[in-house]
Amino acid sequence: MDIMIFKDCEAVAEAGAQVVRNLLAEKPAAVLGMATGNTPIRMYKKLIADCENKTLSFKDVTTFNLDEYHGISPRDPKSYRAYMQKELFDHIDIDSSNTHLPACAKGEDHRVLSHQYEALIEAKGGIDLQILGLGQNGHIGFNEPTSSLGSRTRIKTLTRGTLNDNRQYFDDDDAQPHLAITMGIATILEARRIMLLATGEGKADAVRQFVEGPVSAICPASALQFHNDVIVLLDEPAASSLAYRGYYERVREQKIYLADQLKEG
Ligand code: F6R
Repeated sequence: MDIMIFKDCEAVAEAGAQVVRNLLAEKPAAVLGMATGNTPIRMYKKLIADCENKTLSFKDVTTFNLDEYHGISPRDPKSYRAYMQKELFDHIDIDSSNTHLPACAKGEDHRVLSHQYEALIEAKGGIDLQILGLGQNGHIGFNEPTSSLGSRTRIKTLTRGTLNDNRQYFDDDDAQPHLAITMGIATILEARRIMLLATGEGKADAVRQFVEGPVSAICPASALQFHNDVIVLLDEPAASSLAYRGYYERVREQKIYLADQLKEG
């Protein structure tokens, strides 16, 4: 894992946006895995600004979101589809038919829909860069603690903690879905590259556990230790519990040294 620590969430957003820019410069028809939540909003704003300045284009990009609430209409302002339209898609030059979220309305067969979502990702050639946030309980997507590390897209029951974290977006408890359809951990691990963003002190424990703790279903993000190309972008508060912090900084210095050597050689 490539652990990068920045002074604040603004610098994290800029670093994340730069990873997306670099990918699209190299592969304009890239397949991006998208996340919702508070964390990526700053980064999305930067990508929107790039599009407005005509320095970046999403016209050939395909996207797959991690998750969506069960039984929610895409037109519902609380849906993750509505979030993506508001925070990104409505402001960039992406072809909306290339934007995908998992979806399962009440009464629909979630097993069939989950399988179709996986098949569509595969048909588009797989995900080049999966963007992730991190739950305070270590979840990625809606893979809550105890999720199977080999899980694929499916319905998950949200924990009380996750419901409380997201309670602010719903008028009352009854209106808040307790189920979500989410890419599985094995689905996420198939992305060619993964970029996880975590900011704020509330994420510090989960960051320590997934980066430095044992691989365990109780901390789903720890499964990222099995992937060979993961970038972790943290601000100071989110990095504050890491035991090997000094080491991550030395690794970065040495990477710069190696890159300079290559240029000179
Ligand atoms: C969102 C998602 C979740 C969030 C996580 C962090 O699509 O899958 O895993 O990334 O809950 O949420 P924020 O960024 O709001 O702290």
